[in-house]
Amino acid sequence: MATIKDVARLANVSVSTVSRVINQSGYVGKEFYDRVVWAMKELNYQPNAIARGLVSRKTATIGLIVPDVANPFFSDVARGVEDEAIANGYTVILCNTDWNLQREQMYVNLLQGKWVEGIVLVGSRTPEHELVGLLNGLPIILADRKPTHLKSGVWTDNEGGAYLATKHLIEMGCRKIAHISGPEDSPSATARRAGFRQAIEEQVGVYGTVAQGDFRYDGGYEAAIQLLSAEDVPDGIFAANDVMAIAVVQAANRKGIRIPEDVKLVGYDNIPMSEYVYPSITTVEQRGYDMGRMASKILIAQLDGRDDVSLTKEFEPTLLVRHSTRLDTP
Ligand code: RIB
Repeated sequence: MATIKDVARLANVSVSTVSRVINQSGYVGKEFYDRVVWAMKELNYQPNAIARGLVSRKTATIGLIVPDVANPFFSDVARGVEDEAIANGYTVILCNTDWNLQREQMYVNLLQGKWVEGIVLVGSRTPEHELVGLLNGLPIILADRKPTHLKSGVWTDNEGGAYLATKHLIEMGCRKIAHISGPEDSPSATARRAGFRQAIEEQVGVYGTVAQGDFRYDGGYEAAIQLLSAEDVPDGIFAANDVMAIAVVQAANRKGIRIPEDVKLVGYDNIPMSEYVYPSITTVEQRGYDMGRMASKILIAQLDGRDDVSLTKEFEPTLLVRHSTRLDTP
């Protein structure tokens, strides 16, 4: 396969002249330009996209890091990131960390070696000041996390969403409410715990407790079995995501506890399964796909040097009432 040196030799010009023609950067006289184009055709030379990118540093590639590609919320976000990227001439390298903090940081390093132009980092738990040190100035946007040190981010008002979920359980008559939380170092889980506590503390005669979950099915199931095996079983459970809420349904079935008659249940995310499982799960909707598209849109505007797009976007949560709290819903 012909190389850039073969083209330079045949066209009787320097390699840097050929490179300027390939990358359309810098001045090349017409005679030399025509000779290079002729030589490229003669040799059927295909410029190496990565090599071209090394020169122009424009590989038109974005890195996308998600914590759990098997969770439909994150796959929705990933679809949104990719659809917006492709619509703007970018490709995406997807990395799944399986909630592993070291792997998240490894991917931030690895993607820089792949010459991505920027990174969309979803559901990250790496402290932001550590991220800044890892990035070496590479453009990044946080998704599903409100930035404090970094400038770009898209997220849902998680404290407001958790408040909505808990207030709904109280309005449905619950007085002993348990919250199965996400990982302690997850910013979205921390915000949801805060929203849960605020709703509980506002209401006289309502008691709240927090059980540790991890946003995963097994963690949610274990927490639910403990809650439903206690002497004082809660009459309401708010699970920090739908994957754990589905685990609560299975745990209640195992314990012979009826939802919503004995225990009312609310989840978070509105993944498709939350509607298909029986009873269908009342949940707080996160617009994962729209969040992903917006993350890509903001990052690409930065890469293209445009300032016509706001660097941050907060999405409003929406409560979707279903049978796990009210059997009389359609
Ligand atoms: O389902 C996974 C959860 O982790 C989602 O609620 C998302 O917000 C992330 O934080």
